[in-house]
Amino acid sequence: MGERSSRIPGFYKRPLEERVRILKEFAGLSDEDVELLTRWGNLDPKTADVMIENVVGAMAYPFAVAVNFKINGRDYMVPMVIEESSVVAAASNAARVMRRDGGIKARATEPVMIGQIQVVELRNPWYAKMKVLEHKDEILELANKQDPILVKLGGGAKDVEARVIDSPIGPMLIVHLLVDVRDAMGANAVNTMAEKVAPLIERVTGGRVYLRIISNLADRRLVRAWVKVYKEDIGGEEVVDGIVAAWAFAAADPYRAATHNKGIMNGVIAVALATGQDHRALEAGAHSYAARTGVYRPLTTWEKDADGNLVGTLEMPMPVGIVGGATKVHPIARLALKILGVKTANELAEVMGAVGLAQNFAALRALATEGIQRGHMRLHARNLAVMAGATGELIDLVAEEMIREGTISFAKAKELVEKFSSGA
Ligand code: MEV
Repeated sequence: MGERSSRIPGFYKRPLEERVRILKEFAGLSDEDVELLTRWGNLDPKTADVMIENVVGAMAYPFAVAVNFKINGRDYMVPMVIEESSVVAAASNAARVMRRDGGIKARATEPVMIGQIQVVELRNPWYAKMKVLEHKDEILELANKQDPILVKLGGGAKDVEARVIDSPIGPMLIVHLLVDVRDAMGANAVNTMAEKVAPLIERVTGGRVYLRIISNLADRRLVRAWVKVYKEDIGGEEVVDGIVAAWAFAAADPYRAATHNKGIMNGVIAVALATGQDHRALEAGAHSYAARTGVYRPLTTWEKDADGNLVGTLEMPMPVGIVGGATKVHPIARLALKILGVKTANELAEVMGAVGLAQNFAALRALATEGIQRGHMRLHARNLAVMAGATGELIDLVAEEMIREGTISFAKAKELVEKFSSGA
């Protein structure tokens, strides 16, 4: 056999079956491997093939629903897709103690995204900035011509801003096009508009435009969520103090803030995956927003109120859509949106903000009390019990016994399955 080469011209143009055959040969896959890879499940090959390039199969992730969520007075079952155990259970548990007074409150701002246009080679960048502002109406009109439907829905380009920045290769003029994208995530609408207005901006500034692209620091499209958790529902004031101390740690230390925010994103991204969102945009937005002051900070706050109860808030960008992209193409994403019953992208953003806040609470509560390993180990023990052949009631029996004995391993699980099954 000759040297394998991954240089395969026109791979994307070959029929799907042929791509799979090429891959099979390249990677030495068995018939069973191929059968597994091309077991399409609830994503049919035709849909997969139009979503991305070079498709050779599909991969299923667990799809779960978090329960107990009451947000803005309304009950939701929240679809979550994630590979990490405990996240869905933690979200559901947190939501259970957040149902009083109408539950978690959340409000999204208008869905405004930013398109950036980079102008260089300017003799007078500050004067050029004024020229852009002088032509604002013309720029907006031209941008809005690109998307009459969005304008009809009440969206469209709403404002133009301009900044001169000091870059390593000298000053540049950065023009921001602020676009209300309504129920879309908005990247397509914004990028199209930014590209269309670029020649006009070159004309009025006399400069040269390079980049025309959306900014993922979506600080004009925020969600805010807040909640009061009653001390008696979570084990008293000591737990409240522990959670406040955990938050204060994150507020003072970026090493902790990164993990704190990761816990928030456990919830946000699980809903994003279920509903077919651009989760990389959400991550980029969250972390750049967390660092917007120059110091990386937590996206939530936790304080004790005058009665000793816990009050929490969250503020972060939430660029999500319910039209366009995978939200409409992927049948399960469509189904997830149906389960949620959200009517607008803003409502979806509010649900996701609430889930982020609840997820963060769950993590801090666990960390400030028993630590997270106990819950993790319980799930791990159950997984081992299933792997060792336990079914039904035997799963919990074996898991509990391993925890009691303090030995959580596959060998122990097997031993216990045999012992309990034989009635010993
Ligand atoms: C694990 O996926 C998430 C946590 O580390 C979050 C946190 O520490 O706040 C538990």
